[in-house]
Amino acid sequence: MFSLQNKKAVVTGGGSGIGKAISVLFAKQGAEVHIIELTVESAQEAVSEISANGGKVISHACNVANHEAVVAVFEKIGAIDILVNNAGIAHVGKVDTTPEADFDRIMNVNVKGVYNCLYASIPQMRLSNGGVILNMASIAAWVGIPDRFAYSTAKGAVMAMTLSVARDYMSENIRCNSISPARVHTPFVDGFIAKNYPDNQAEMFDKLSKSQPIGRMGKPDEVAALALFLCSDESGFITGCDYPIDGGFIKLNN
Ligand SMILES: NC(=O)c1ccc[n+]([C@@H]2O[C@H](COP(=O)([O-])OP(=O)(O)OC[C@H]3O[C@@H](n4cnc5c(N)ncnc54)[C@H](O)[C@@H]3O)[C@@H](O)[C@H]2O)c1
Repeated sequence: MFSLQNKKAVVTGGGSGIGKAISVLFAKQGAEVHIIELTVESAQEAVSEISANGGKVISHACNVANHEAVVAVFEKIGAIDILVNNAGIAHVGKVDTTPEADFDRIMNVNVKGVYNCLYASIPQMRLSNGGVILNMASIAAWVGIPDRFAYSTAKGAVMAMTLSVARDYMSENIRCNSISPARVHTPFVDGFIAKNYPDNQAEMFDKLSKSQPIGRMGKPDEVAALALFLCSDESGFITGCDYPIDGGFIKLNN
C-alpha cells in the first residue's frame, strides 16, 4: 500500500519543515521528487539526504510567486502525477496592523504562488492522463486565530482554490484536496516566534504547544504521512476535501 513507484511528484517548499518531510517520504515510497525552492541551500540539503538514502530527487531554484519562472520549471519537469503546494510564509497582525506591503507579500506567495503552480501543473498532469494535487491550508482558515489576518485570508483562498480545482478537473481524472495543520514544529514556527516574540520565546513555544488540546505541536512526519495517503492511489475516492491534522484544535478546544 501507499507505493509511489513510477510517479513523478512536485513539492514546493520541499527544502524545509513539512515540505522536506513530504519530499523524504515520497522519495522513500518510490516517487521521483522535484523540489521547487526559494532557498537553494536548504533544497540542496534535502537533495543530499534523499539521494544518500537512494531516492530520486531533483531541486529547482524558483520563487513560486513568479509566474513565468514557475511555468518554465513545470515545462522543464514535464509530465507529472503529483503536486504538493506546500510553500508558504507566516505573518502576524490584525487587519489594522497589517501594512499593505505585508498583505501583498503574503498574497503573492501563499495565494498567487499556489495559483501559479496549479496553472502550470494542469498541462503536465494531462500528459499523465490525470493526477493528484494536495494544497497546504491551515486551521487558520477554519477558525479565528488571533493576529493572523493576512495569513488566514490566504489560507481561506487555498481552501476555495482546492474546491474549484477539484470540481473543474474531476472529468480529467485529477483529484485535489487540502490539509489543515494546527501548529507543527518546523523552522517556520521557530522563525516567527523569534521574530515576533523575541523576549519570551520559551513562553510562546509552551503556549503554542498547549493550544492543541493534545498538548503538543504536530510533527512534520505526521503531516507527511497524511500527505502520502492523500497522494496515493489508495485515496482514489477522495477529492474536494480538507483534512485537519490538529491535535483536536478545531473541535475539542471548548
Ligand atoms: N508549521 C506550522 O505550524 C503550519 C501550520 C499550518 C500550516 N502550515 C503551512 O505548511 C506549509 C509549510 O510550512 P512549514 O512550517 O514547513 O514552513 P518552513 O518555513 O519550514 O518551510 C517552508 C519552505 O517554503 C519555502 N518557500 C517560502 N517561500 C517560497 C517561495 N516564494 N517560493 C518557493 N519556496 C518558498 C521556504 O524556503 C521553506 O523552505 C506552509 O504553507 C504553511 O503555511 C504550517
